[in-house]
Amino acid sequence: MGHTVYTNVESGSSASLSSRNSSGLIIREEQPRNLEFPFDRLDSYFTPVESFYIRSHNFAPTLQRESYRLSVEGAVKNPFTINYDELKRLPATTSVVTLECAGNSRVFLVPQRHGAQWELGAVGNAEWTGVLLATLLDRAGITGKAREVVLEGADRGMPVEPPTPPEPISYSRSIPVDKAHNNVLIAYAMNGVDLPPDHGFPVRAIVPGQYGMASVKWLTRIRVLDEQFQGYWQTTDYAYWDEVDGMPVRRPLSEVKLKSEIARPSTFEVVPKGQMYTVYGAAWCGEGDVVTVELTMDGGQTWVAANFLDPIQPHAWRRWSYDWKTPDDSGTHILMSRAKNTAGESQHDKHDERYGSYVVDHILPIEVVVQ
Ligand code: MTE
Repeated sequence: MGHTVYTNVESGSSASLSSRNSSGLIIREEQPRNLEFPFDRLDSYFTPVESFYIRSHNFAPTLQRESYRLSVEGAVKNPFTINYDELKRLPATTSVVTLECAGNSRVFLVPQRHGAQWELGAVGNAEWTGVLLATLLDRAGITGKAREVVLEGADRGMPVEPPTPPEPISYSRSIPVDKAHNNVLIAYAMNGVDLPPDHGFPVRAIVPGQYGMASVKWLTRIRVLDEQFQGYWQTTDYAYWDEVDGMPVRRPLSEVKLKSEIARPSTFEVVPKGQMYTVYGAAWCGEGDVVTVELTMDGGQTWVAANFLDPIQPHAWRRWSYDWKTPDDSGTHILMSRAKNTAGESQHDKHDERYGSYVVDHILPIEVVVQ
């Protein structure tokens, strides 16, 4: 496989040129807050709360625990409203879920695409605690005709991607009713602590297996619909072009695709020649399990298997490593990782253009300098 590589990552490490917040997150946008985890710092299974990427389209709303209310309404027999304390008294479930923003790795698209130039760190893995959405839906008693469940956040704003709506809108996404019954969490804690304001305090959804856009933060309304939801964040943004009988049709993004990323070395890192260097990274997919990660240090001519550091856990990443004996001669090298899943599927060589500036799940080249 001959790769001509190149990314929009600036020479001299773009990360070092970008500003950072007090926790070392890369500032992609100051307000609304959009912060990236510097992926070359990956060193734990759970991403610490203060290092977890933040992707917000609107200013974070200030919600109080005491006045917080979540309504469950629409195509249900018994609509109801629940407060924070009542929610916390319901049986709790804890799940490990990797969240990846659908725009993660956009900087690797050539030519450059519009939008925040996320490198490798709009992804994180955490343990989320809350109530199963299914518990709330059972209490509301959804009607036989129900098709989708809309999750609505308290944040509002004017979206930027045209066509834009005539007035500010709330951030809302829907999931099919069967997905809503399948391990979706209405979460109030992350890695054992209350959700921080930027991650959706006091309550957010966590939709395992779907890109981060589905996990609505500052959740205040759950609306059951007996038709397909056609909201902005479902059709204009976070959507892609599918094809039915040769006809392009717009569909919402959903399932996280199979992907692996190299954390170290990072792009343009100078690696000492003739020495052992531990290449390190992570791999994940929405449904199914990652069973193999292979690496190439010679631009795709030869591949070797990496070793997993974490067991298989549905919807969570697996870190991996490989001890690389670096070349004795100085030069530029292209490192790439490629994940495979249980079904034998492998990461693709190229970005699928139907996804526009999203779903950057192809094999990503990391150029390093051996010297
Ligand atoms: N929920 C609301 N209410 N508003 C948002 O802007 N952004 C979504 C999702 N939930 C968003 C939201 C996107 S695009 C992502 S990737 C995840 O939140 C990011 O979650 P995090 O900021 O906790 O990492």
